[in-house]
Amino acid sequence: MSDKGIEIEYLKKINLVQKYNKHYYDNDKPIVADQIFDLLKKNIIDLENKYEFLKNKDSPTRTVGFKPSKNFQKIKHKVPMLSLGNAFNEEDLKNFEKKIINFLSLQEINIVDYSAEPKIDGISASLIYVNGKFIKGLSRGDGTEGEDITQNLKTITDIPLVINIKNFPKEIDIRGEVFIENNDFKKINKNFANPRNAASGSLRQKNPSITAKIPLKFIAYTYGHAKEMKIYNQTDFLKNLKIWGFKINPFNKKISGVKNLIQNHKNIEEKRKEIKFDIDGIVYKVNDFNLQKRLGFAANAPRWAIAHKFSPNSSISEIINIEIQIGRTGALTPVAKIKPVNIGGVIVSNATLHNEDEIIRKDIRIGDTVTVERAGDVIPHVISVDLKKRSEESKSFIFPLNCPSCEGETVKDYNVITKKKDAVRRCISEGYECEKIAIEKIKHFVSKEAFNIDGFGKKIVENFWHLKLIRLPQDIFNLNYDAIEKLEGWGKLSVKNLKFSIKQKKQISLDRFIYSLGIRHIGQENSKIIARHLKTAINFFKLSNAKNIESLSNIDGIGSTQIQSVKNFFLNKVNLKVLSELEENLKIENTVLINNKGLLKNKTFMLTGKLNGISRAEAKSLIEQNSGKIISKVNKKLDYLIVGEKATMKKVSIAKELNIKVIKQTEWMEMLNKTS
Ligand code: IVH
Repeated sequence: MSDKGIEIEYLKKINLVQKYNKHYYDNDKPIVADQIFDLLKKNIIDLENKYEFLKNKDSPTRTVGFKPSKNFQKIKHKVPMLSLGNAFNEEDLKNFEKKIINFLSLQEINIVDYSAEPKIDGISASLIYVNGKFIKGLSRGDGTEGEDITQNLKTITDIPLVINIKNFPKEIDIRGEVFIENNDFKKINKNFANPRNAASGSLRQKNPSITAKIPLKFIAYTYGHAKEMKIYNQTDFLKNLKIWGFKINPFNKKISGVKNLIQNHKNIEEKRKEIKFDIDGIVYKVNDFNLQKRLGFAANAPRWAIAHKFSPNSSISEIINIEIQIGRTGALTPVAKIKPVNIGGVIVSNATLHNEDEIIRKDIRIGDTVTVERAGDVIPHVISVDLKKRSEESKSFIFPLNCPSCEGETVKDYNVITKKKDAVRRCISEGYECEKIAIEKIKHFVSKEAFNIDGFGKKIVENFWHLKLIRLPQDIFNLNYDAIEKLEGWGKLSVKNLKFSIKQKKQISLDRFIYSLGIRHIGQENSKIIARHLKTAINFFKLSNAKNIESLSNIDGIGSTQIQSVKNFFLNKVNLKVLSELEENLKIENTVLINNKGLLKNKTFMLTGKLNGISRAEAKSLIEQNSGKIISKVNKKLDYLIVGEKATMKKVSIAKELNIKVIKQTEWMEMLNKTS
């Protein structure tokens, strides 16, 4: 890439940091996860290290935090409020210590003492005391200038307003963290993703009487400038903070040696779930103030301190209970209710345990200390159990053999392909007899890919179910609107809107209709191919006669599993009632077959292997749109076998024997006048 190109990329990243910062600091609503932000910052630092010509005043290597909001008066910090460098593992810590030893020209054997302080994830504040009186309180702002938030800070009871103790310096700026305890966060949680955002939002709003209502806490840990202070190390300073009337972190510790830092990090990470407030790592500070002074600062962080962060993807917690959730297809999914923990900025209190086999394999029990992972969009899940932490009274979890919702029988299906029983246990109820399955089926019925009824979300389904307004899908088309209008949160207008959206969806395509029924193994694609094959709703209803179901086996893509599932569906009496009552209420459109004069007219095709850039379903639909026909067996009726990657060689050799044209994807595309 040219220098110009590199600079453009670099500036784009700086702009992005600015944008993320604005949401984080000004709006208290981050739009990306902390780890994405950290990665972006790291990219910028790497680029600056690699290309010397890259410089920008807004680079995160030159700024701390974000410029103060216009809501408050700006005041310059006497001593800047800097941030800390991050360490993630033992190697980072070794490097940190090596740099200190080199800088101070110490011998390796010289022991460096550290003050190890759990890093509270709140927002920092600077409290200026003159002659023992709290006179001004500032936020960090951009590190150089903060916002005057004195009035809001005065509402926090942990902050002493007057200090009459002999050795309290004549002038000092005490720094620490404003935060909300996890339990209080639960009570006030409305729009905030985590306690940190809630603390920031409450502290930096204009009206102090609103701040006063929020149970904000303050823990002190350092100072900016101090006049006539006779304290020579951090541990003594922390002790004095306590004497002066400040709260300090009860888990602070003096430690030396990287190995011991790691052990302490581990111990605290395990304790994290029991600590009343959120911590996101441990801060290590060289204990001796004299050494701190000699080490000084590099760029915007001190050389004498570092933040050893916890993993952004996982956390340790304790299983309070194991609940069994029941899905639309009857699958029993065990979910661990855990003590809430912050994983990468999100408070997690549920973690999936997948299925019965997984619980047995990992021997997961109620009361266990577990590591929970949450990465990307994947549902948080338990990855391991700490057996050392297990109590002697602990008992294996007994997975229910009956459905916890309807108490009916459950089974583990036999998988003919793997020749093993499935890991998932299921409730065998096929219709709407099991309450939990029924609710999930109705949620599916109104969902986006099915009936797509505007304003009829999952919460409404649950609410209407509990109020006995719905029991079966067809009830949606005969709702008691008078009763709904009287419900809390509903009114004339919202009922009118709901009525309108339901009425609009009374006309539906056959494939969507089939999909909406939530027949096991009949997803969107299978619904489409069945609809294309059957063409009319009447033909679909005729499947209630078992003989007609067999005809589905001629459709490519529909196998014995799907056929058995359709059979089971039509064997259930409630399903038949649902179908007939839906038919009365709906206008189900016939599937219109497209174009019978297309380029592939009178030609039959079969696909084997994986195609490039196009799904099988789309390829099939493309063939049909162009009047071609798909068949599912290699026989004399077949004209073309389209071969993709990892094709079934047996099919190819039979086709060759029968003189069937075996073509590549590109050749097939050419037939359609398309290039792949
Ligand atoms: S000392 C120059 N000590 O972490 C050193 N900071 O990224 C300044 N924090 O802005 C900070 N607990 O908001 C220090 N015990 C502690 C801390 C702590 C939390 C926060 C603080 C600071 C940030 C550094």
